Amino acid sequence: MQQGTKKIALERLGTELYVAGLFKGEKLPSELRALEGRFPLKRVLATGDFQGQRGQRLLLYPTRSVRGGVRRLLVFGLGERKDLTLKRYTRLMNDLFAWLDRQSFKELTLELPDPGEQGPGLETLAVLSARIARTGTWSFERYRSRARRKALMRVNFRCGAAPERGVTQALKRGDLIGRGVNFARELATEPGSTATPAYLGEVARKLASEGGPSLKVKVLGEPQLKRIGAEGILAVGQGSRQPSRLVVLEYKCGRKNARRLAMIGKGVTFDTGGISIKPHLKMHEMKYDMCGAAAVLGVFSVIAELKPGVDLVGLVPAAENMPGGASYKPGDIIRLHCGKTVEIVNTDAEGRLLLCDALSYAERNYQPDAMVDFATLTGAVLICLGLEMSAVMGNDPGMVEAVVEAGSSSGDTCWPLPLAEEFKEQMRSRVADIRNLDPSRNAGTITAGAFLNEAVGEDTPWAHVDIAGTAWQEAKPGRLPGASGVGVHLVFDLLEQFASAGV
Ligand code: BES
Ligand code: MN
Ligand code: ZN
Repeated sequence: MQQGTKKIALERLGTELYVAGLFKGEKLPSELRALEGRFPLKRVLATGDFQGQRGQRLLLYPTRSVRGGVRRLLVFGLGERKDLTLKRYTRLMNDLFAWLDRQSFKELTLELPDPGEQGPGLETLAVLSARIARTGTWSFERYRSRARRKALMRVNFRCGAAPERGVTQALKRGDLIGRGVNFARELATEPGSTATPAYLGEVARKLASEGGPSLKVKVLGEPQLKRIGAEGILAVGQGSRQPSRLVVLEYKCGRKNARRLAMIGKGVTFDTGGISIKPHLKMHEMKYDMCGAAAVLGVFSVIAELKPGVDLVGLVPAAENMPGGASYKPGDIIRLHCGKTVEIVNTDAEGRLLLCDALSYAERNYQPDAMVDFATLTGAVLICLGLEMSAVMGNDPGMVEAVVEAGSSSGDTCWPLPLAEEFKEQMRSRVADIRNLDPSRNAGTITAGAFLNEAVGEDTPWAHVDIAGTAWQEAKPGRLPGASGVGVHLVFDLLEQFASAGV
């Protein structure tokens, strides 16, 4: 699907479908009046059937047969102006594109709403609109014998007769972020049989070779992991026939003294639980246990085109967690890359082990100004925040705040949890430095974060985002089922903050 902008008076616009939002209780925007001659707009609105309630839709056809110009008109309700929030606009766009995706229009022109002084800014709405034009029409077709033919080939945006430069750029940004999100979803949905640790390495290599000179890649295999002492990654993958990897991608913005962020994503390509095996009921969902990794690769799939003014290192510790004769076992003691020893209490608490290795590796080898990790880490976060929000915690209030902020601007909402001393004590072991699980399971999400904190130095601001509840979704009005691509948009907004303010 192509996206573009139309800079043309409405009278001269040629389009299969022109889509415009209308606020409740407000008069028709003067622009729309240009279509009054062609569409029975006045008459239909006079009935009072369409009031501009949020989500209401009205599809109109010309009163007589026409050639060229606007061939159909879709008006949708934006609700009351004072109630329009980013979240509601996102919901509206998701619903709109879910509907459009089921129609047969090949092309359409969407007018960006004029948000006025209060509420979200025009550029933010532009980013969201363009992103959702991509994400709202995505579906996983790779393994269908007969792939669904997509009708919608082109979405044009319009913003009055002449959009400002900022809006055009915002549309471009939204389009690219949407592609990054879809890339992550595609990868996340790929089954464990194909999306193996080695496969993630290959995907990263391909991204770097196609992404141009701003990207670099390095894939560490098991011999190298042994050499650097990444026993966390190795232990998790030890029962699997699939060899483990540590994938490292680098983006350089080209500016001297640019700030550098590290992004780490959990890449457990399938999580059976290992010897502490999981019940069967939802085990198939554990192919999604690499959604953190998918977010990293999704970001790198478009970063060279988005060109943020900050450097980014992306790290994916990847392994498959399987039971078998060679598996690591409860009671084992391993040594992480950071040097600390861990008593394995439960082999299903595996994500924290491989993440710790990637965190200390990133910190030591790249000296980032800050780090953020994304991981489908705990089932407990589903009890805590459900499917609605990710949990965020860290060693630095400013960094956590920055993630919360990027979470709300992007729609990848995050809610902070306290990483207090008390919780760290729960992870002490009697036989090693730390243990990978407190069997009480109290504060399961926080104690997992506390474990990760053990691998991070005090001087590197770091935030951990638990996306176990948000990385894949059940169908619900306004929300698409399956992999969500959470984290991709958030990180681009975080990079933006880094570039402009310096967190
Ligand atoms: N990948 C899971 C977490 C998970 C669970 C993600 C459900 C999405 C949905 C993680 O590796 C895990 O198994 N966590 C266990 C930890 C437990 C053994 C302390 C959990 O949360 O049940
Ligand atoms: Mn697990
Ligand atoms: Zn897991």
